[in-house]
Amino acid sequence: MESTIRTMIKNLSEKKGEEVLIKGWVDVKRDQGKMAFFDFRDATGKVQGVVFGKPEVLEVAKTLRPEWVVAVKGKVQERNDKQAKAYREEVEKTGKRPFFNKDVELEITGFEILNKAETPVFEITSDTSEINEEVRLKNRYLDLRTQRMQNNIRMRAKAMQLLRKELNEENFVEIETPVLTKSTPEGARDYVVPSRLTPHHFYALPQSPQQYKQLLMSAGMERYYQFAKCLRDEDLRGDRQPEFTQLDMEMSFVEEEDIIQLNERLLITLVEKLYPEKRIQQIPFPRMSYAEAMEKYGNDRPDIREDKNDPNLLAFVWIVDFPFFEKTADSDDPQAKGEWTFTHNPFSLSKPEFVEDLKAGKNIENIVAAQYDIVLNGYEIGGGSIRAHDPEILRSILRILGHSDEKIEENFGHMLKALGSGTPPHGGIAWGFDRLMMILQNEKTIREVIAFPKNGEGRDPLMEAPSTITQEQLDELFIELKELPKKKDE
Ligand code: AMO
Repeated sequence: MESTIRTMIKNLSEKKGEEVLIKGWVDVKRDQGKMAFFDFRDATGKVQGVVFGKPEVLEVAKTLRPEWVVAVKGKVQERNDKQAKAYREEVEKTGKRPFFNKDVELEITGFEILNKAETPVFEITSDTSEINEEVRLKNRYLDLRTQRMQNNIRMRAKAMQLLRKELNEENFVEIETPVLTKSTPEGARDYVVPSRLTPHHFYALPQSPQQYKQLLMSAGMERYYQFAKCLRDEDLRGDRQPEFTQLDMEMSFVEEEDIIQLNERLLITLVEKLYPEKRIQQIPFPRMSYAEAMEKYGNDRPDIREDKNDPNLLAFVWIVDFPFFEKTADSDDPQAKGEWTFTHNPFSLSKPEFVEDLKAGKNIENIVAAQYDIVLNGYEIGGGSIRAHDPEILRSILRILGHSDEKIEENFGHMLKALGSGTPPHGGIAWGFDRLMMILQNEKTIREVIAFPKNGEGRDPLMEAPSTITQEQLDELFIELKELPKKKDE
């Protein structure tokens, strides 16, 4: 086939009457003896193609199977059937072109097979949400070809781009922070990575960039953001992955109100620009104290939707006035060892009227934190706080949490030093970006909006991670493996 410039399927309506070349996948084939019909698919759309009255082309057409990759030459013809009329009416009404372009079809004049494909384990034309998830994850590249998953991943990318643009315009600086780092307390277990160059020592993968973003405020960056990979070794749920993405922010010279307002603006812009079909229940977002949420809803992430059957209703609510500390007995933090533990993180500040109590370590159970969560339709989609920027306050908090002065120096000495170096008042927030996208895309788990998520046991069935490593790798790291405990039935 002589080379012609490729036309993307979404642009075919602009080429009526012309000879074009498209490239993509065989989505569906309908062999009708003397004729063959196809649906072809590329990243931008689907279109019907027909082979009729060309024996040599028909011969090739008959060999094609779904998911084969092909280059197809043909003439773009306007369709005039019922479906075409319905399609045009829809475009007229919504101003949007559906993925399957039924305005035109391709009168096929030639094929080139670019690659063959084994019969896929599930139909790419289907919605795979009801298919066994292990099978989907093992064949994720096929799963991601489906229209629903393509849309989820592409909308995620669009949201990221839009948020980056908005934040850049607000003078935020996008800064990457290390992935090989030191344990930072966020309430979960750390994933650890052995160091070859310093044997018997381990990096921790970040549960969040919390300390680094505060150090960036010490560094005078004033406004930081990052789409940050966070890693937490905790039990999985539909809205929890061991590896997830935060839209992480920190700002200097701000108060709780500034952060709340900026974030509210961002969320509204995101919905208005990318999800115009959705309705935000209440603007400005309502605010509810932690105490009120617990009393009325029995949890701190209330679903306040007026109508829970409406997939396009977004009920944002800020939860504020959290207690700073809780008794360890009530905590699920594996690292909580003292009598008290924090409810958000140890770097927070209290509301101004409790700062003296915080410094003196008294009235602990009543101290209210300058902390806020943003909740959407019953999910906590973000949380943050104003931080303690006075090293003496952070020291006092760590003492309340039961750390000895020696441990404080060892684990938090760098933070205390940085705070004492001229660190401005600051605060921030992190969005659970996967959770937000899950809700916006009307999905039930965050795995549907993550390209390569882990399964319920924290495994990646496609790459088969985690996996064992070789004896040489272990030797190099001076690591010896202990015998595993015997299972009961062995
Ligand atoms: P926090 O621990 O509340 O705060 O995390 C912020 C948001 O991240 C989301 N999230 C998760 N999403 C998917 N899988 C998980 N395992 C998971 N864990 C948390 C939630 C949550 O609201 N450093 C602070 C932020 C700050 O104070 O600025 C932090 O990480 O939506």
